[in-house]
Amino acid sequence: MGRCYPQSGVSVAAVACATFRLQAGDRVALVGRSGSGKSTLLHLMAGLEVPTSGAITWPALGAADTLLPEKIALVFQSPSLLEPLTVNENVALPLLMANANGDIGRAVANTLAIFGLENLALKLPEELSGGQMQRVAMARAIVGNPRVILADEPTGQLDQATGRAVLDALIAHLAGTQTALVIATHDLAVAERMQRVWQMEQGILIEADKRLVGV
Ligand SMILES: Nc1ncnc2c1ncn2[C@@H]1O[C@H](COP(=O)(O)OP(=O)(O)OP(=O)(O)O)[C@@H](O)[C@H]1O
Ligand SMILES: [Mg+2]
Repeated sequence: MGRCYPQSGVSVAAVACATFRLQAGDRVALVGRSGSGKSTLLHLMAGLEVPTSGAITWPALGAADTLLPEKIALVFQSPSLLEPLTVNENVALPLLMANANGDIGRAVANTLAIFGLENLALKLPEELSGGQMQRVAMARAIVGNPRVILADEPTGQLDQATGRAVLDALIAHLAGTQTALVIATHDLAVAERMQRVWQMEQGILIEADKRLVGV
């Protein structure tokens, strides 16, 4: 599977060759230099981008246009909260889009509590720090219990201790579930917590041996 983009009239491969299998319960760190294709790969996996060669299929999840946000949740690298909505409303969105049954307010409150965000529930995104926005985006990703979570550098704007706390909370929340997690990261401490390492090198995905990449 691959994805090319036209750049200055030339077709450039953001993802040249990626062959992978993601299984229920997997914990994967997606590492690689800036520009190596990590975000593009996650967008392809989420169905936001379409491969220009090959295909991604999700035999256990269904058709590509039914994946987001119920079955696959994506935490974007760049800020992605909806500006006019409060933290509560942003986190409730996946549940509203899925016509979820039950007490949405309670589900949102419980999810905010996982990341220690209770006090920010009524704030607007513009009132948050970058790191707080990232944590709210993470809460929004997990609130609907998706089958796959794709998180694009979710601790990139956090100090080390906060980043570790967020990851601890996420891993504890997913413990014992069959939710698969793929985290793109430059932080080897994050990669160390995952079972598998996918390394992107100039658009080529390699399943790396953790010991060889120094993780
Ligand atoms: N929409 C686009 N149009 C043209 N080129 C693109 C587009 N999106 C990504 N690219 C190119 O594809 C390559 C891979 O980009 P990508 O964002 O996937 O890298 P990355 O590994 O996530 O980098 P970083 O660690 O900096 O986030 C880059 O060379 C980038 O310029
Ligand atoms: Mg990226």
